[in-house]
Amino acid sequence: MIETEKLQSAARKGARQRCIDPACGASFELNERFYVCPSCGGLLDVVLESSTDPDPERLRDLWTKRLASFEPGDRSGVWRYRELLPFAADAPIVTLAEGNTPLYDAPVSAAYCGLETLTLKHQGCNPTGSFKDTGMTTAVTQAVILGARTVVCASTGNTAASLAAYAARAELQCAILVPRGQISHNKLAQSLDYGAAVLELDGNFDDAMRVIRELAEDESIYLVNSINPFRIEGQKTVAAELLHQRGWRVPDHVVVPGGNLGNSSAFGKGFRELKDLGLIDRLPQLSVVQAEGAAPFAGLFGSESDVLTPIEHPQTLATAIKIGAPVSWKKALRAVLESEGSVLSVSEQEIADAKAIIGRDGVGCEPASATTVAGIKRLISDGFIGPDADVVAVLTGHILKDTDYAINYHQEKLYTHDRAPDKTKEERRIAATYSNPPARVKATKAAILEGLRRHEQEHAGDY
Ligand code: F0G
Repeated sequence: MIETEKLQSAARKGARQRCIDPACGASFELNERFYVCPSCGGLLDVVLESSTDPDPERLRDLWTKRLASFEPGDRSGVWRYRELLPFAADAPIVTLAEGNTPLYDAPVSAAYCGLETLTLKHQGCNPTGSFKDTGMTTAVTQAVILGARTVVCASTGNTAASLAAYAARAELQCAILVPRGQISHNKLAQSLDYGAAVLELDGNFDDAMRVIRELAEDESIYLVNSINPFRIEGQKTVAAELLHQRGWRVPDHVVVPGGNLGNSSAFGKGFRELKDLGLIDRLPQLSVVQAEGAAPFAGLFGSESDVLTPIEHPQTLATAIKIGAPVSWKKALRAVLESEGSVLSVSEQEIADAKAIIGRDGVGCEPASATTVAGIKRLISDGFIGPDADVVAVLTGHILKDTDYAINYHQEKLYTHDRAPDKTKEERRIAATYSNPPARVKATKAAILEGLRRHEQEHAGDY
């Protein structure tokens, strides 16, 4: 067992937690276990008051050198950028070699959107198949530092799978709270295999989030939803990895899906800190895309109000982002406004078609991730993004995260939720615009060749 007292020196000198509300600005030691500001209830940021090496050229060289190293801390696409993190060099890191996710050129998706080129940053290529791993490595490391016995989260599936894996690595007890019957089986299967206590709640994600925050008042329990600022610290390093992979060339636009809004908050913080350190000289415009039936943030952005109104019964087949009361909206709004980005929502049909198109680039993703390509297509037709712009869409989850959705789409059996109960089933069917259903063939060479010919004919000029 690792000694807690010794580990508390694992906090980096000069780093603190600070309330994001400028009217409060209260700050706290890193080892004080708060999730929100105890003075005003605001969200907390981790702030690094001094960089260990503020010379941007030296940082770039150091990070590039680490690409050739086999040390676990260098192999990780998060800990490789540890100069950006609030941990000391001897921190007991819990890692699964997360990050290191590819950048793909996506010509089919680009043409679909009306862009000359489009780059996909595939965060679904993380160890548990979603971007959550980049934040879970730091959050679970902090749990170990704090001497927590049990780690918990509320989840639409991916946070749960990720936490379950990292808790297993750290030999911590893990409890995950998920809305019963509302998360993909693939994600559930992961959490079961990783050995977590899976607690299925009668209610939605927002109900689970509310209950878990009460549970985390208990001293031995550590909450690792993205309200926890140590999650955001890990996730923000994706901004560094993305720019490192692009030779520090700043894209014009970065587009992410929005659910609980931790990811957009993390990207915003990452880009801003890299700019403050002199590693980049401008911010990419950060835009957030939500699903139409679960779009409280898009609603806020398009309104005069400066307070988010939660949606009581969010609905979308992109279950990862079926969230009505996003916890991190203030941080996400700060990031979007500061970078002059946008927030919008897209329909179920747009998500389904964009997902199939991303598949045709040979990349694939889960439904929530496809909001990005659907959103970019809209932002181009609205004139917010120019056709020659340098755009990165962040895919957050792997295609195998929700196989039922894909199979149903291709077999024309995908139906929207019952938000409008007066509609017939047929009216709720998502059109399989780019469907590619399996074909049954006899076990003969001739039948197979005929099947191939028919497939080619049916799919000529698909997009
Ligand atoms: N994409 C995927 C695949 C997700 O799993 C999530 C969130 C998001 C996008 C949205 O990111 O919440 O940071 O705005 N999934 C959470 C979960 C809520 O519990 O797995 P966000």
